[in-house]
Amino acid sequence: MLEQIFAVVSSYLLGSVSFSILIAKWVKGIDIRQHGSGNAGATNTLRVLGKGPAAGVFLLDVAKGVAAVWIGQWLGNGNVWMTVLCGMAAVTGHNWPIWFRFKGGKGIATTIGVMATLAFLPALFAGIAAIAVIALTRYVSLGSLVFAALMPVFVALFGLREELLWTSLLVGLYAFVRHRTNIVKLAQGKENKLGGKKGVPH
Ligand code: G3P
Repeated sequence: MLEQIFAVVSSYLLGSVSFSILIAKWVKGIDIRQHGSGNAGATNTLRVLGKGPAAGVFLLDVAKGVAAVWIGQWLGNGNVWMTVLCGMAAVTGHNWPIWFRFKGGKGIATTIGVMATLAFLPALFAGIAAIAVIALTRYVSLGSLVFAALMPVFVALFGLREELLWTSLLVGLYAFVRHRTNIVKLAQGKENKLGGKKGVPH
């Protein structure tokens, strides 16, 4: 039992390492949460700092999700729900980071890491659809929502185990809750577009 608690807590602490905050501080000496959309994530890093730092943030945030699932597999004695809990803990840490006064991001990159580790092909197909939506509309948030909505669909289509279907539904729901401000802005036609000027704080 202690091992399991340790796995979930360490996944949360790992998820709390917000790379957009660290890299923005390191590269420009700024708090990313006071610029652009105010979100601590790769999209806002792209908006505020450009492609290089954004790519670094994206890859590192994805890696947190992958590592959390590995922690769950390692300490969970084969219990698939432990991998799910650890993955969710990492996304929770990313969204509400203990190291940064609980003000973090929206968890999409970390969710991609979690889901790509648990269900690679569904994540790949949902990812391709999301990229297509972003390329067509220039709305990263819409692409993120498409990814979140399609994951359970592809998990079901590929006939993967029920636990993974529940996981994809849970993380998808999580993503929608975190994007509620983006959803309102999308509906109002006021959402920040990729390549737009500086973004509007949410
Ligand atoms: O993953 C975050 C993205 O979907 C939206 O980011 O900065 O435009 O709110 P942002």
